[in-house]
Amino acid sequence: MGRSTWKYQVFFLFCLILHSQLPFPSSLSSSLSSMPPCSALLHFSKSFSLDKSASAYDPSYPKTASWQEDKHCCTWDGVECDKNKSHVVGLDLTSSWLMGHFHSNSTLFFLPNLRRLNLADNNFNFSRIPSEIGNFKSLTHLNLSNSVFSGQIPFEISQLSSLVSLALSWNELLIETPVWKRVIGNLTQLRELILDRTNMSSIRPNSLMNLSSSLTTLSLRYCDLRGKLENNILFLPSIQTLDLSDNSFNGLLPSSLFNLPNLSTLDLGYNQLVGPLPSHVSGLNLSVLSSSSNFLNGTLPSWLFSMPSLETLYLYSNQFVDEIGEFKYNSLKNLDLGYNKLHGSIPRSVSRLVNLTSLSLSSNNLSIMLGSEMFSKLKNLETLDLSNNLVSINDNAIYALPNLQYLDLAYSNISEFPIFLRLTTNLRYLSLSNNQIYGQVPRWLGDVGMNSLYYVDLHDNLLQGPFPSLDFSSLHFIFFSKNNLTGEIPSLICDAIHLEVLDLSHNNLSDMIPKCLVNSTALSVLALQMNSLHGTIPTTFVKGNNIRSINLYGNQLEGPLPQSLANCTYLEVLDLGNNKINGAFPYWLGSLQKLQVLVLRSNRFQGCIGNPMTKFPFPNLRIIDISNNQFNGSLPITYFEYLKAMMNVDVSELYMGDNYYQDSLNIMINGHYIELEKVQNIFTIIDFSNNSFSGEMPKTIGRLKLLIGLNFSYNNLIGYIPSSIGNLDELEWLDLSFNKLSGEIPSQLADLTTLEVLKLSHNQLTGHIPSGNQFNTFNNDSYTENLGLCGFPLSRTCDNHEAKQPPPPTLQQDENLEHENGFGWQAVSIGYACGTIFGTFVGYLMFKIGKPKCLVRMVKLEQHIMLRRLKKNGHKRGGRR
Ligand SMILES: *[C@@H]1O[C@H](CO)[C@@H](O)[C@H](O)[C@H]1NC(C)=O
Ligand SMILES: *[C@@H]1O[C@H](CO)[C@@H](O)[C@H](O)[C@H]1NC(C)=O
Ligand SMILES: *[C@@H]1O[C@H](CO)[C@@H](O)[C@H](O)[C@H]1NC(C)=O
Ligand SMILES: *[C@@H]1O[C@H](CO)[C@@H](O)[C@H](O)[C@H]1NC(C)=O
Ligand SMILES: *[C@@H]1O[C@H](CO)[C@@H](O)[C@H](O)[C@H]1NC(C)=O
Ligand SMILES: *[C@@H]1O[C@H](CO)[C@@H](O)[C@H](O)[C@H]1NC(C)=O
Repeated sequence: MGRSTWKYQVFFLFCLILHSQLPFPSSLSSSLSSMPPCSALLHFSKSFSLDKSASAYDPSYPKTASWQEDKHCCTWDGVECDKNKSHVVGLDLTSSWLMGHFHSNSTLFFLPNLRRLNLADNNFNFSRIPSEIGNFKSLTHLNLSNSVFSGQIPFEISQLSSLVSLALSWNELLIETPVWKRVIGNLTQLRELILDRTNMSSIRPNSLMNLSSSLTTLSLRYCDLRGKLENNILFLPSIQTLDLSDNSFNGLLPSSLFNLPNLSTLDLGYNQLVGPLPSHVSGLNLSVLSSSSNFLNGTLPSWLFSMPSLETLYLYSNQFVDEIGEFKYNSLKNLDLGYNKLHGSIPRSVSRLVNLTSLSLSSNNLSIMLGSEMFSKLKNLETLDLSNNLVSINDNAIYALPNLQYLDLAYSNISEFPIFLRLTTNLRYLSLSNNQIYGQVPRWLGDVGMNSLYYVDLHDNLLQGPFPSLDFSSLHFIFFSKNNLTGEIPSLICDAIHLEVLDLSHNNLSDMIPKCLVNSTALSVLALQMNSLHGTIPTTFVKGNNIRSINLYGNQLEGPLPQSLANCTYLEVLDLGNNKINGAFPYWLGSLQKLQVLVLRSNRFQGCIGNPMTKFPFPNLRIIDISNNQFNGSLPITYFEYLKAMMNVDVSELYMGDNYYQDSLNIMINGHYIELEKVQNIFTIIDFSNNSFSGEMPKTIGRLKLLIGLNFSYNNLIGYIPSSIGNLDELEWLDLSFNKLSGEIPSQLADLTTLEVLKLSHNQLTGHIPSGNQFNTFNNDSYTENLGLCGFPLSRTCDNHEAKQPPPPTLQQDENLEHENGFGWQAVSIGYACGTIFGTFVGYLMFKIGKPKCLVRMVKLEQHIMLRRLKKNGHKRGGRR
């Protein structure tokens, strides 16, 4: 403690003694030595700036902005005084836009009579909680949640022995065992203890057994608590709300928790608990039960479905088996049993659940008849997720689910549009993707009833005919890829002023791309690859647009690239391969700081690439494929010196794309053209093959250390293969065939232990073929048609001394290699199964070769968990840890 601070504290105590009993003065003085409560408050408020972004919850407003010096502070917003107006006893500045440091010499500590202090939802910019907090001896309620405090919780908190309610959740706080023990030991009046997202990783779960038996609410969510939750550990006879979710508790689910007589809310979700739910309970009357995302197994006991007040039941993502029981009461509002191993059909008694607002049974093995008999009574249903089950709709009765907002029937084997949708009027999210829906999109999908639609996903079906005329005005996300739609993209789409993602890829749409599409600042993804579009690429990319990904691969687009693409400062992916685009190399794209993927392959580009015109061109480029064009001149040596992203790993996100859209790409890998559904950010490729580049290969290529594939084949390159290629530690394929390269193969190439494919044929190479490591696995084809290569595997031996004949690679070696790389060519052809292959395979990429159910489950579960978490947190500042 610094000297001046110490002095200040003495002075501060002195002031406390002086002023604690003084009446309010009529005029406010700013002198610290005689700081009366009103001045202290005002001074406190002035120590912060007001910033709307400091508060995340609605409604928020700056309470202190209305504080007027000429009015008594007992009238101020958020201030509470005792009867005689002689003491400030309560201060509630929740969500008041306070921004700035909370100092330990804050004048707030001049208010020792405070009983209730609530500063939740402000931004104190990672301040410590001052130890002076211990001076508030009368404090009964303290709430500092969600206010950007950091550091250790001071032990002085444990001196607040009158505390009834303590909430410090969602900060950057840490509590350690000594403080925790004192809190438990001293705060015997506590009824509410809420420490969500406090780092408690050093606290042992058995210390929970000493918690005050008068607790009614205990919330230790997301606290990094770990270890076994022993049965009977929690002796909390009064507890009503118990939230231990999102920790790392393991061991058997403690059945004693189901005997707590007053328990109403129990949340054990997102732990690693195992075992079954108790088969019988007595006296339990829960309204909320959540134990999602654990490893619970066994059957769902019948008491779950016959608890008279149960409103929320979340058991998704466990391993429950067997059937769903009969519902006795109608109290349920939220039911989520998704991501288990349930089978059979839904019990008829579901029709009893007239209060149900959300039902999710996704990713089980249920057979669900989406008929009127059971579903027509669920008039309050807002969310219905039956995806990844076996759903059938053959029921002609039209019934209305008037409140339905979210419908997910993806991967459910349906072959027609659910007809009840015709009578919904509030639908916002519709996913019917990956089914066998056949024929034209029904007209009613464009009806007024659908004018609230925000997200529509019909990809991977058998839809035909023209692209439907939807009511585009509210749509943000449109996915119609992988159907057989024909005709033009309707100009009505210009109404889609909020459109963020448009994915119409893999159809047979023709005609031109509507200009208005790119004249929008909302659009982020434009995926039109694999259609029959022609004409030129629209030129109207406006300044300030948000386009992140443009994929026009595989159309018949022509003309030059519009320069206005340089306005796309957020562009990450530009794939224009397989069109008829002409013109010179678009060097001006080099200024796009975020561009990661540039594919111009198989077009009619021509001329020299030349030298960069911008200072640090293409700083983020990871994949460049300009093969199959008519580029000539020397290789762009200077560019290679700047491709920073190919030199150093600096990857925060695993995959390209975001939560709504993951970029797929067409990439040439070992001569196979493959569409990758998900592209890992570290995938780094240069493909300049099949052009007319001449001159030598630059040494600087050896700096691009992250390269996985390098293809310079079918050009006119001369000179030596630079030995610096031996530095490319990640290289998996190297194709320099069909050039005029001479000299020896640098022995350094044998250091590339990841190399799987080497093609040097059709050159003028001479001398020894290096040996060792991967070179023991390449065969003749790698070297044919050269001037004078010798040694293994060629039959030609080297002149003076025999080339060392390494043993042929054994099967064993092969397998190991694949395992180490996580990327074996065989895997490409056999696709992937779940489990082991999936585990290693996900290393680089995900291929689309049919989708096993378990994979669908995995991908969907990720989204599901994200949505649920967002909902529960309900605040914008979460997840900073
Ligand atoms: C928060 O603190 C940092 C340094 O600790 C400072 O640079 C920044 O200006 C502070 N922000 C506010 C709004 O006080
Ligand atoms: C609980 O409290 C008792 C006495 O106050 C103490 O002896 C014991 O060590 C505490 N248990 C734990 C696990 O902290
Ligand atoms: C796409 O549509 C055109 C007519 O617009 C037709 O000639 C062509 O065969 C279709 N292609 C496919 C793959 O269906
Ligand atoms: C682009 O949109 C703006 C308004 O958003 C409009 O004024 C302008 O004419 C449009 N330009 C083109 C080429 O469509
Ligand atoms: C970028 O957009 C502005 C209008 O927003 C346009 O005037 C300009 O020409 C565009 N830039 C290029 C390089 O086309
Ligand atoms: C390199 O490119 C050529 C021509 O584009 C292609 O035929 C060959 O398969 C590619 N090599 C590899 C290893 O991908």
